[in-house]
Amino acid sequence: MRRLLITGGAGFIGANFVRYWADKYPDDRFVVLDALTYAGNMANLVGMSDRSGYRFVHGDISDQDLVASLLKEEKLDTIVHFAAESHVDRSIHEPDAFIRTNVNGTHSLLRVAREVWLERDDAPDTHLFHHVSTDEVYGSLGPDDPAFTEETPYAPNSPYAASKAASDHLVRSYHHTFGLRVTTSNCSNNYGPYQFPEKLIPLMIVNALTGKPLPVYGDGSNIRDWLYVEDHCRGIELVINSGRVGETYNIGGNDERANIDIVKEICARIDVLFSQRPGLAAAFPEAPAAAGRPTASLITFVKDRLGHDWRYAIDATKSRSELHYEPLESFDSGLGRTIDWMLSNETWWRSVMDGSYRDWLEKNYS
Ligand code: NAD
Ligand code: DAU
Repeated sequence: MRRLLITGGAGFIGANFVRYWADKYPDDRFVVLDALTYAGNMANLVGMSDRSGYRFVHGDISDQDLVASLLKEEKLDTIVHFAAESHVDRSIHEPDAFIRTNVNGTHSLLRVAREVWLERDDAPDTHLFHHVSTDEVYGSLGPDDPAFTEETPYAPNSPYAASKAASDHLVRSYHHTFGLRVTTSNCSNNYGPYQFPEKLIPLMIVNALTGKPLPVYGDGSNIRDWLYVEDHCRGIELVINSGRVGETYNIGGNDERANIDIVKEICARIDVLFSQRPGLAAAFPEAPAAAGRPTASLITFVKDRLGHDWRYAIDATKSRSELHYEPLESFDSGLGRTIDWMLSNETWWRSVMDGSYRDWLEKNYS
């Protein structure tokens, strides 16, 4: 039985992980620590408070007294560290928060973990600090470059990627220097339920349903490797349960797609759904599809993202051979599930997009 601290558990992947873990390991104790930034929402954890073993704590990963008291009082033996500023565009406009949380916040957690787990007599018999990271630390690929392996040299290009790279190095150093038991996973682009509608897929779905332009950066040729979020959660589970301490593992979807193809695919699917389900036109009257017009008419090519990485691709051979990791959801089925989820959860996306997010969008993109 594990006793976990899940940081950033009210965000997109963290909340999916909390649900995944609670279903699979109902006897575990899991404490969620989240600062509830614009990206963290209690709405992502609805229903969780009824589960035994679950506790939510509103707080910052940089609050060392709080983290130390949680590790000690709850006798936690595993940290799964999701908490981060995660949006590349925001890191271009306002990088400070990325350094604060992703670099200093991660270091703060490592410090406390070391103090409580390595330097105290009443420390648990064993412990694990699992760090959730990204493929963006490896930089950008050309069309014929081989996919990123765990040996690919780091070459982060955005302030976000640089802050994650720094955090990966700090995690590694706490293992090498102090003997903290750590693992790291570097994952490709996730999508699925509870993803904040500032990221490509949920943004395009929301804008298509509300009749707003679908902003495609540059010429839309940039390529990402897409992974349904549940497969990422399973990958993390495999690393936690069977990964070698001190190692990093790449997790990917083995499904590379150009942005423009994804946007067109979302448009086509929404057109079909509106033609098959008459209730959708009444529910989303601003959608072009409600009036029988093609959703693709909303596609708008806009100024490119600064320093926009062209391609990411993951070579997950190590995870496959050591951990038997394999994504189960195809992009085809995963995108279908995601669109269905967004159609059924209008209240969720309208509520999380209120307030500070709107202010930020207006300030930077009006
Ligand atoms: P997200 O932005 O949806 O959620 C981040 C969560 O962290 C939010 O709940 C937020 O409130 C919380 N948080 C932020 N700062 C905090 C602080 N100082 N203290 C406590 N909590 C804080 O992010 P996500 O997309 O779920 O990503 C989770 C992790 O996975 C991140 O570390 C990210 O780098 C990594 N990752 C994401 C993807 C992806 O495609 N989204 C892919 C690979 C890796
Ligand atoms: O690769 C893993 C990373 O994937 C994670 O580490 C990040 O946390 C996560 O945000 C994601 O980063 P990206 O920058 O790849 O994701 P995003 O959804 O912001 O953009 C995906 C692609 O779509 C990218 O090439 C930029 C483009 N894009 C994005 C938005 C929001 C558009 O063309 N238009 C848009 O409006």
